[in-house]
Amino acid sequence: MSPVQHESSNALSLQRTNEHATKEGGNSLSRGPRLLLATTGSVASIKLPLLIKEIRQLEPRVELKVVSTDSSTHFLSSDELESLNVPVLRDKDEWDSWKRMGDPVLHIELRNWADAVVVAPLDANTLAKIANGLCDNLLTCVLRAWPASLPVVLCPAMNTAMYQNPFTSRHTQTIKEVLPNFEFIDPVSKRLACGDTGVGAMAPVSIIAERALEVAKKGMAIKEHEEGKLSVAAGTSGIVGNAGGAFADTSEGGDEISKSSTKGGPPLDERMKALIECGFEWAGAGGFPPPQPLDNGNHASPAKTQ
Ligand SMILES: Cc1cc2nc3c(=O)[nH]c(=O)nc-3n(C[C@H](O)[C@H](O)[C@H](O)COP(=O)(O)O)c2cc1C
Repeated sequence: MSPVQHESSNALSLQRTNEHATKEGGNSLSRGPRLLLATTGSVASIKLPLLIKEIRQLEPRVELKVVSTDSSTHFLSSDELESLNVPVLRDKDEWDSWKRMGDPVLHIELRNWADAVVVAPLDANTLAKIANGLCDNLLTCVLRAWPASLPVVLCPAMNTAMYQNPFTSRHTQTIKEVLPNFEFIDPVSKRLACGDTGVGAMAPVSIIAERALEVAKKGMAIKEHEEGKLSVAAGTSGIVGNAGGAFADTSEGGDEISKSSTKGGPPLDERMKALIECGFEWAGAGGFPPPQPLDNGNHASPAKTQ
């Protein structure tokens, strides 16, 4: 079975996966973070297997899916893709999985499924497309439909001459201004695949893997909050929970947002611990602050190049 065939059936099962997750306790803290990895037409796409391996080593419970542009697939053989044991979705899958009204739309399914997106490598072409709001393939449709509250990490990789073209900084700047939930892991300087030496090589896989997991966990916690499973008790140190019993209010006088449904679910301290691990900070008397769009420096820079 080719990766594409494999993936078409996988694409169709996305909705069922979501439904299943909801039925199985409805508690996203009981699942692993869902990370959508994307590759574009840079030779650094060959690092996808290594990236997946490192991410899984850091967090075995992580749920992964890959979106590859058509150009990107030139750098990975079908055998390699199949051996990853990860669904790999391509532009063709959008239309293979949609035949008539009512069928799931793949880029929306993926957008709803993932807690975070990491584009590694991000080539000059897709950088330009994102900065200009274009959405002419599966990846750019996912990114155009992506929620403003959830994280996206972009890892540019290109020849030095391409990187130094003024459009790179213009497009990067535009994305930072328009899409504050998008962050960059800047490329590094080294001998590139084309033989040139200079800035433009994708950041080290270990750095990308670590950040990918951080943002996926954060995205999961934000989604949890947005879905109403975690609510903030205003005015006291209490935390309240709702459907699924995310948190039990232990205080008097807390906002009654969802005090009425605190049945079931793991114990309060276990859930608090999970959220803190996901990047939330306990704000004392004010309770948890509502999740903010991610760190707005939009930078994780192994070697500052701009
Ligand atoms: C062998 C080869 C390597 C390439 N490497 C890069 C690269 O590292 N970075 C880049 O921006 N473009 C690179 N390109 C050009 C892109 O593949 C090309 O712009 C393509 O249209 C990108 O399509 P996509 O953004 O839909 O993946 C390369 C092209 C070839 C043929």
